[in-house]
Amino acid sequence: MKNIQILFLDSGTGGLPYMIHLKEIAPEIRCVYVGDTANFPYGEKTLEQIKFMAAETVERAIKRFNPQIVVVACNTISVAALKTLRARFSIPFVGTVPAIKLAAALTENKKIGLLATRYTIEDSYTTDLINQFASDCSVFKRGDAELISFIEHNLFTASYEEKLKAVKPAVDFFKKADVDTVVLACTHFLHLISEFKESFEKNVKIVDSRDGVIKQAMRLIKEISNTEKSNDSIFDVADMGVFVTSLRNKDDEYEYRNWCNLFNVPFLGLLN
Ligand code: DGL
Repeated sequence: MKNIQILFLDSGTGGLPYMIHLKEIAPEIRCVYVGDTANFPYGEKTLEQIKFMAAETVERAIKRFNPQIVVVACNTISVAALKTLRARFSIPFVGTVPAIKLAAALTENKKIGLLATRYTIEDSYTTDLINQFASDCSVFKRGDAELISFIEHNLFTASYEEKLKAVKPAVDFFKKADVDTVVLACTHFLHLISEFKESFEKNVKIVDSRDGVIKQAMRLIKEISNTEKSNDSIFDVADMGVFVTSLRNKDDEYEYRNWCNLFNVPFLGLLN
């Protein structure tokens, strides 16, 4: 499986656990990560804006890195723009969508919490997923732009207490609704998984789509590595690296560099 290159895309740091998970399973795969920080937060944009911004960023990244697979490690971009991206670019895309099917299989009291961006909870793709897989459940939806912004900009310097405080409004919302299963349907929330686990009762199950997404990426990798195509493109980055599309100031740069250090990934600065 040598010489396979994958591009990971998110609006910021949310998709990092996805890339790291793939690297754990398949260390020989070369990965480049683009956080489209210039357009963060995607979850507060309109459908047309998301489609336009995602396509533009993917185009730049494909031109620069020529990957064989793109993993959209962002629920918002996936539910809004995956169709557009697949129609526009000829390489395969793996999308990240809310793990409603998994939650529906796990819930016992048929009450599911869905925590995502404002865009994702309102999008018809999400409604279709609920109708298809959880029509016998009550789904309590919460869009939490504030928590996502906290994760992107403050998580790195936040104390454990500040992190618990940040998840509290969402936790209280779902406790009140008496859900027994919560779907983390924005990739950013994976960074706070232990705080969520700590805050909910032990019987509340917390699910996300990371394993499913990486399994799908691995299937594609195997398919591609059996074809000639696997040798076509070579990244101009080493084994793994992270780019962002904008840095607001020195603090941003410090923060992204530290995020990357935490995951042991080189931070390679601005994508240009
Ligand atoms: N990480 C993104 C997701 O999974 C959303 C963050 C944003 O609003 O840009 O939906």
